[in-house]
Amino acid sequence: MEIDRRTFVAAAAAGLTLAAKPALAAKPSSFPKDFIWGAATAGHQVEGNNLNADCWLLENIKPTVYADPSGDSANSFELWRRDLDLVTSLGLNSYRFSLEWARIEPEAGQFSIAMLDHYKAMIEGCRALGLRPIVTFNHFTTPIWFAARGGWMNPDAPQLFARFCDKAARHLAAGIDHATTLNEPNLAGVLQFLLPGGLLEADKAMAAAAAAKLGVPVFLAGNALYQPEPAKVQANLQAGHTAGKAAIKAVRGDLPVGVSLAMLDDQEAEPGSLRDAMREKFYNAWLRLARADDFVGVQNYERSLWGKQGKLDPPASARRNMMGAEVYPPSLAGAVRYAYEVAKVPVIVTEHGVGTDDDTLRAWLIPEALTHLKAAMDDGVPVKGYCHWSLIDNFEWVFGYKIHFGLHTLDRQTFERRAKPSALVYRDYIRSHTAGA
Ligand code: FCB
Repeated sequence: MEIDRRTFVAAAAAGLTLAAKPALAAKPSSFPKDFIWGAATAGHQVEGNNLNADCWLLENIKPTVYADPSGDSANSFELWRRDLDLVTSLGLNSYRFSLEWARIEPEAGQFSIAMLDHYKAMIEGCRALGLRPIVTFNHFTTPIWFAARGGWMNPDAPQLFARFCDKAARHLAAGIDHATTLNEPNLAGVLQFLLPGGLLEADKAMAAAAAAKLGVPVFLAGNALYQPEPAKVQANLQAGHTAGKAAIKAVRGDLPVGVSLAMLDDQEAEPGSLRDAMREKFYNAWLRLARADDFVGVQNYERSLWGKQGKLDPPASARRNMMGAEVYPPSLAGAVRYAYEVAKVPVIVTEHGVGTDDDTLRAWLIPEALTHLKAAMDDGVPVKGYCHWSLIDNFEWVFGYKIHFGLHTLDRQTFERRAKPSALVYRDYIRSHTAGA
């Protein structure tokens, strides 16, 4: 069952085609000296052996929708210093990574000082190398005990998350540069209306098998595709963000805190299109909530062309990623402009990239997208940073190890990482486009 979350967003009805439009000519100019240049990962996708996480259980149950179990992944739990060296070797000044809630709180209310120390060492390791740590407190995966209590559908979920944020912040906040609470919560429970029925059924069967194994009525993972009560889940995630942020701020009021949202660049292909309705459905509640935050994290991989009946096909000339979706370099700037228009707070691009085995596509995408991003900044959109997804090839959720987003390859036997040519394109672009660099 191979489909990812962005593809779900893009999976709305299609059928029509649109003529290719030439991309805007972008202005060459310099990014500010203090611009955040980073690469991103997430705990479960790189650490390996995250045994207490909901996802681990689901990867290893029958039936499962996961193409592979995460297993050792990139073994970044052990090899994170190597990862930081990769970050510095590209001339970046920031690393975005996430805390694994399931390691820090493996049983409800039982917090592991050793695991908190692990993440503290990573944060201090970043600082020692002059890297600004952008820390995601929760990137999809939740502890098994949390999912077994109904996950984000549980009325206690916001408070349980806030308790975790409080403990983690007390241990870690001092060294963090920017914190995000949740990763792409705007997608939870809103995509299922677009999913192919078979996938939804398979996801339900997998969750039911997990519930049966644990002897609980419902097992709802952090990134479950099927949510029995989507409105409740959305309300709890929003309350969770607010309570989690308050907990972090109570520890360190001057730490900038935000939330990362999955955003397409939604374009109106004809008057009266569904674009505005789709924006309302997928992002607006979160963008309005983000008005109270210090910044908003934007994660963009695609654009959507909206007609009156649904999503239109990309132009025939479009270059495509491994999932068959269009790769459109100006989409990042488009999503960022819209995020700022509604949220009215500074933006950090917390993810952007492409799943492909054709690294020339990535090498083409990065400079093009950044030049359009800079044009948005020149038009007055406050963008503080850009993190490329991902530092290394890793466990891409239901796709397992089959889709590659990395700036570096990963040898799953030796854990060797090797820079792809696109990584050097990113490095060189930063060198030649940063003021005073
Ligand atoms: C985003 C997720 C990230 C990764 C990329 C490709 O939706 O936040 O974990 O899977 O897509």
